[in-house]
Formats: sequence, C-alpha cells, structure tokens
Amino acid sequence: MDTDRFDAFVDGLDYPMFVVTTAHAGERAGCLVGFTTQASIDPPRMLVCLSVANHTYQVARQAELLAVHVLDKDDHDLAELFGGRTGDEVDKFAKCRWTPGPDGVPLLEDCPRLLVGRIADRQPLGDHVGFLLDPLRVESYDGGPALDYEQVEDVDPGHPADDHPKGSEPC
Ligand SMILES: Cc1cc2nc3c(=O)[nH]c(=O)nc-3n(C[C@H](O)[C@H](O)[C@H](O)COP(=O)(O)O)c2cc1C
Repeated sequence: MDTDRFDAFVDGLDYPMFVVTTAHAGERAGCLVGFTTQASIDPPRMLVCLSVANHTYQVARQAELLAVHVLDKDDHDLAELFGGRTGDEVDKFAKCRWTPGPDGVPLLEDCPRLLVGRIADRQPLGDHVGFLLDPLRVESYDGGPALDYEQVEDVDPGHPADDHPKGSEPC
C-alpha cells in the first residue's frame, strides 16, 4: 500500500485527545493518545491504542488497569508534558497534580472527566497494540469541548512511533 495515499486519507481528520495512565509494581506511566475510541455500546467498552515504542506501553503490557482522561481546551500544557516527553527520561508525575486510583493508577487532578478500565484484551495492531477496556469507574464533567488533534499538532512526540527500542515487540 502506498503510505502517501493513506496519509492523505487521514490528513485533516480531527479527533479528541486523551492522556492514558497506568501503573504496575510501583511504576507509573502515561502518554498523550489520539487513537482511542468507544468500541462497544453494550457492553460499554473503550479501545486505547498504544505505540510499542512508548514507555507507557512497557508498563501497560503488565498492568491490570488503564485510566483514560479527556483533555479540555485549556489542557495544552498537559498534552505537551504527556505527549512531548517520555517516561524513559523524565518523571511526568513529578510535574503534574495526581492522586492514586484503583491499583495505584495515577488519576490526573486537572482532568475530572475520566474512565478507569480493566484491560479485557490486548491485540497487536501493527506498530500499536490495542487495549480493550471494561469500565470500572467513570467520572463525567460538563467541561465543554475536548482538546482536539489539530490543537496539539505542534507537540513533537517524545517517542516517535517508528522509534522501536529493544524489547518493544507487540504483546
Ligand atoms: C498529537 C499526538 C498524538 C499521539 N497519539 C498517540 C497514540 O494514539 N498512541 C500512542 O501510544 N502514542 C501517541 N502519541 C505519542 C506519545 O504521546 C509520545 O510519544 C509520548 O512522549 C510517549 O511517552 P512515554 O514514552 O512516556 O510513554 C501521540 C503524540 C502526539 C503529539
């Protein structure tokens, strides 16, 4: 497949941005995620796609839970922190306000609209792995429209998806 044609197809498609966090064995991780969608109505399920290049994936592959935080229009700083930096180099959780949720998963205090989900399945999809989530806890909040992809296009990913560190094979 000609990837230029594929790129032209997806170019300009806008979608909401999320910060996805997780924890395992006392290690915390989180990154900015655009590839996230509702995947089922009944049962209610979300699908989160994590790049195998990311530190977050390395923790999530062993974790029980993911927390999905909706970013609002004022959250560009959080998008920059979680999308432009990597947990391989910085402790993102020393630079934001959070509290421990179920299983220690970090919940961002500035993102009250969130879903904590139990990982029901992990599916290799290519350079991303799909994490299917059964909601365990959901908090909604009428905070207005979500931050969109076009508003964070200026953020350079801390880990480009084609940057595969050793040992980052899909689960
Ligand atoms: C606009 C934008 C969208 C992104 N979407 C995703 C995504 O859907 N899935 C993903 O795993 N990473 C995505 N990333 C990349 C990660 O957020 C980024 O590489 C981050 O620095 C990884 O942090 P980590 O290594 O601590 O996990 C996106 C980054 C940006 C800037």
